[in-house]
Amino acid sequence: MEENKYKAAASRYDSSMQYRRCGRSGIELPAISLGLWHNFGAEDSFENARQMVHYAFDHGITSFDLANNYGPPAGSAEETFGRLMAEDLAPYRDELFVSTKAGHDMWPGPYGTWGSRKHLFASLHASLRRMKLDYVDVFYSHRYDPQTPLEETMQALADMVRQGKALYVGISKYPREIAGKAYAYLRESHTPCLLYQGRFSLLSQVPREEGIIEQAADAGVGFMAFSPLAQGLLTGKYLDGKIEPGSRMSRDGFLKKSVLTPQLLDRLHALDRMAHRRGQTLAQFALSWLLHFPEVTSVLVGASSVKQLADNLQALSAPAFTDEELRETDRLVKE
Ligand SMILES: NC(=O)c1ccc[n+]([C@@H]2O[C@H](COP(=O)([O-])OP(=O)(O)OC[C@H]3O[C@@H](n4cnc5c(N)ncnc54)[C@H](OP(=O)(O)O)[C@@H]3O)[C@@H](O)[C@H]2O)c1
Repeated sequence: MEENKYKAAASRYDSSMQYRRCGRSGIELPAISLGLWHNFGAEDSFENARQMVHYAFDHGITSFDLANNYGPPAGSAEETFGRLMAEDLAPYRDELFVSTKAGHDMWPGPYGTWGSRKHLFASLHASLRRMKLDYVDVFYSHRYDPQTPLEETMQALADMVRQGKALYVGISKYPREIAGKAYAYLRESHTPCLLYQGRFSLLSQVPREEGIIEQAADAGVGFMAFSPLAQGLLTGKYLDGKIEPGSRMSRDGFLKKSVLTPQLLDRLHALDRMAHRRGQTLAQFALSWLLHFPEVTSVLVGASSVKQLADNLQALSAPAFTDEELRETDRLVKE
């Protein structure tokens, strides 16, 4: 028997993690899920990735979110997860809720992207190989494909469940009107949609403004809020206007340096003052604000260190928001 084999903390379900019912389904998800979009690719430290996943699972995070294209390079976050499955997590498979997605550019040619049945199935097969899994817990259509009939995309999702390759299905970033049709199709196919995944944070409130969170709740679909910290903007790290080397903004890719305007910094400082009045860090405040919405099943955080994850998990011990605090928060983000 190898030494230093991972053994999950015996206390993992005694900690402060809360589990929330996912829509009208049999599933409960942790209030905080961990996403592997950044910091889990082949170019990142495997040991750091391993420590973050261990820390998460040891603290009650059962839900891990991937996609075919996470890396870089694309596919490598799933390979990292696959290595962790093989080396550490295999005994815990039944305690894990793992998702992946397809729909963004993955390989060249006409079948390497969007929402055709051909793309979705080929991608799912490749994801299962990379993650060393027999099935995923949720498979998402990563984005709406206006060129492919919605019925084709939805039927492919339903068939994945029939074939036992996914237990549940979800959709991500679909416009409201199309989401309604997708829910109806999936319900009629006896494969109710489990989750809608959308960008939702203090700085990006489209799912709230467009009624996407209420629509999901009415349809019995859970809502998973991605980029809840606006990729790091809603943490203390940019408050002094500096861009730390190694931070996501320093890479100027998905988080552009140009967003850090004086107006945004003023807003972040006002939110930070409010967080401090509540005894929270800005990150904890941003997460607990999202979790006050009953429609939000789970907030899907990213992290580049165990320290960040530990900070973020403290959001769960936040005091409840007063009506006055909620009004003040709305005013701060809208002004
Ligand atoms: N469905 C979709 O289309 C879609 C799109 C985007 C994301 N997602 C999912 O959502 C997940 C989360 O997205 P995200 O990574 O953008 O989430 P996020 O939680 O908004 O941002 C995470 C980043 O913020 C910084 N950070 C986190 N906690 C911190 C703390 N306590 N103090 C200081 N900095 C902190 C880290 O950046 P540094 O690297 O700068 O330290 C970290 O990588 C992804 O992994 C993915 O699973 C889905």
